[in-house]
Formats: sequence, C-alpha cells, structure tokens
Amino acid sequence: MDIIETIRSRRSIRKFIDKPISDEVIDRILEAGRWAPSGLNNQPWRFAVVKERGLISEISKLTHYDKVVRGAQVLLPVFIATTNIYHREKDIQGIGACLQNMLLEIHSLGLGAVWLGEIIKSDLPIRQLLGLGSDLELMAVIAVGWPDEIPRPTKRKALKDLIVYRDF
Ligand SMILES: Cc1cc2nc3c(=O)[nH]c(=O)nc-3n(C[C@H](O)[C@H](O)[C@H](O)COP(=O)(O)O)c2cc1C
Repeated sequence: MDIIETIRSRRSIRKFIDKPISDEVIDRILEAGRWAPSGLNNQPWRFAVVKERGLISEISKLTHYDKVVRGAQVLLPVFIATTNIYHREKDIQGIGACLQNMLLEIHSLGLGAVWLGEIIKSDLPIRQLLGLGSDLELMAVIAVGWPDEIPRPTKRKALKDLIVYRDF
C-alpha cells in the first residue's frame, strides 16, 4: 500500500475477533510509534502493553467504551513522561504523531484498532492497576485486535473548506 492509500483506508475498528496477537506484531506497532517525530527529538512517549484478560476487564470498568476494551486482544496505553517534558503542547503533539504512526502500522498489518481518548479521565486508576507512578500521565489507549467489522464509510471536510490561505 502506498502511504496515502494506507492513510485513507484506515478506519477506527471497535469490534474484534477472539484471536491472539503475537509479541512480534506488538513490537512492530511500538516500533512505528518509536519513530515518530517530536520537538527537540524529546521522545516523550512511554508505552504499556496489556494482554492479561483480568486486567483488561478491570480497565474496561474505567471507561464508557467498556465493550470495545473488553473485546480487544491487546491494550496499548500511551503515556507522556511528565518528568521529561520540554514544552507540554509540543510534547503532546509528538504523542499524537506517535499514536497515528501506531494506528497506520496496525492497519497495514491487517489488524484493527481505535484510539480511545475518553479513557484518559481514568489516568490515575489505570496507572494504579499497572503499578505506574505520577512520572507518567495517560494520553490515550489504543485498543487492538483482528477486525470483526466492516466499518461504516466516513467523511472528511472538503479540502477547500480547510485551506485558510493559499498562494497560487
Ligand atoms: C484524540 C482522539 C480521541 C478519540 N477518542 C475516542 C474514544 O474515546 N472512543 C472512540 O470510540 N473513538 C475515539 N476516537 C476515534 C474517533 O472517533 C475517530 O477517529 C473518528 O470518528 C474518525 O473515524 P475513523 O477513525 O474511522 O476515520 C478518538 C480519536 C482521537 C484522534
């Protein structure tokens, strides 16, 4: 797939089949995140990998998207390293790039995923469940699995409505 095709065909997947994901595949997803750009090359992202069903079930109780979380094979919570911040907005932008890299790699591997943002309201209890301290802050959880849905077509605003200035 060329990159624009990968970008355009990626959709959020919220239903998954019951089939495991290998550690090698998980490493490929994290590797894509690791190579994201960041301000000053600060690399503020930190990753957790959650596969244990009991833990996934506990985390599912901490979000409105409980069914999505329970159905996932792997949860990838992504944190910002709070003791390593050089500029909060720019570090968070870098984490956005990291998350998108991961979503695109997931899609290119034939897997499905959704970026969960609502769940960051549960930063503290999720860190407690994982035994992590306040040197981390939850930025998102990517729920990953083999797809069990053909997602609805989605729309984007027309390019002409997005360009606020352009020289010709
Ligand atoms: C910052 C952010 C937060 C999001 N939070 C959630 C969420 O909590 N639950 C969810 O189901 N989808 C969430 N999404 C996925 C969006 O709903 C989805 O990307 C958007 O509707 C476009 O659909 P698409 O991903 O299929 O192109 C989030 C996406 C982003 C970028």
